[in-house]
Amino acid sequence: MNVLGIESSCDETAAAVWKDGEILSNIIASQSIHEQFGGVVPELASRAHHKTIWKTVQQALVEAEISMNEVDVIAVAQGPGLIGSLLVGLSFAKGLALTYQKPIIGVNHIDAHLYANFIEHNEVYPFVGLIVSGGHTRLVYVKKAFHHEVLGETRDDAAGEAFDKIGKILGLPYPAGPVVDMLAKEGNPEFHDFPRSMINKGLDFSFSGLKTSVLYYTQEKGEEFVQQNLNDICASVSAAITDVLVAKLRRAVKKKDVEHVMLAGGVSANSMLRKKMNKLSEKRGLNVMIPALEYCTDNAAMIAVTGALKAREGVFDDLSLKPFSRVG
Ligand code: KG4
Ligand code: ZN
Repeated sequence: MNVLGIESSCDETAAAVWKDGEILSNIIASQSIHEQFGGVVPELASRAHHKTIWKTVQQALVEAEISMNEVDVIAVAQGPGLIGSLLVGLSFAKGLALTYQKPIIGVNHIDAHLYANFIEHNEVYPFVGLIVSGGHTRLVYVKKAFHHEVLGETRDDAAGEAFDKIGKILGLPYPAGPVVDMLAKEGNPEFHDFPRSMINKGLDFSFSGLKTSVLYYTQEKGEEFVQQNLNDICASVSAAITDVLVAKLRRAVKKKDVEHVMLAGGVSANSMLRKKMNKLSEKRGLNVMIPALEYCTDNAAMIAVTGALKAREGVFDDLSLKPFSRVG
């Protein structure tokens, strides 16, 4: 089976081809236009998707060496995300489905982040999954494919949002997550003890207190101090965020008594988090799955593989498919 995946939920236009358990192509066109605004501008994002989507899909097909006629299913990100951006991908996918008479499957972007793990890891259930992206921080228990029980969520900022907003306070460019990660590698995580909100309480998360604490800290210490100690501050911030993520995941694993654990979403690219997860895996004998770096941040390979799973379960959509902006 050949699945064409299309992703356009935020600021990456992406297309990929999955064939019988293998990703044949994974094309991502990132939108640099938002950098100057320090965040994604929805209207500019949809225009940029509109400009690049056909080129991106064509490139994915060429690289996979298949034609549209050989595609069996079109899988497309349906939400959550920016409505204008989602509409571009969805309308384009519907156009292809109609023209080439192909079935269409709408894919939940958050589910897709999780199932990105099944690109390279064996499909196993039940598992506890931690989805940490720019828009979401969510702990789920998954008994079998598409049967998710939400165990915990963020009450304010998502983990990636915390990295980005704190990075902005530190004068770093958007998106700051990967930059904070890079600088943290050269820093001391014990340089400053930033708060680990709600670390000993339940399975929900809260990161806005950390953001405020970094703001007060930088105001108190001044610009020069911050620039001179940027690596150490980034390492201390990363330590605070990742400590909370790992502690909650550990608690969820204990509660659900599972041996399989998954990390997913953009923040799962974070090197400190990956290290801590691998340590946890060794210590507790857990099977910890983390996607390869190219499948952590937004991509269409994750949409294609999730589409393939839905096709296997016989879950198809039709041309009335509509986008949704918020997580259900
Ligand atoms: O999953 P994703 O690409 O998009 C959403 O669905 O939100 O996640 C993007 C988020 C951004 O907040 C970005 O700063 C963060 O993931 N991110 C990272 C790293 N790479 C991406 N955060 C920390 N460390 C990283 N290495
Ligand atoms: Zn995402």
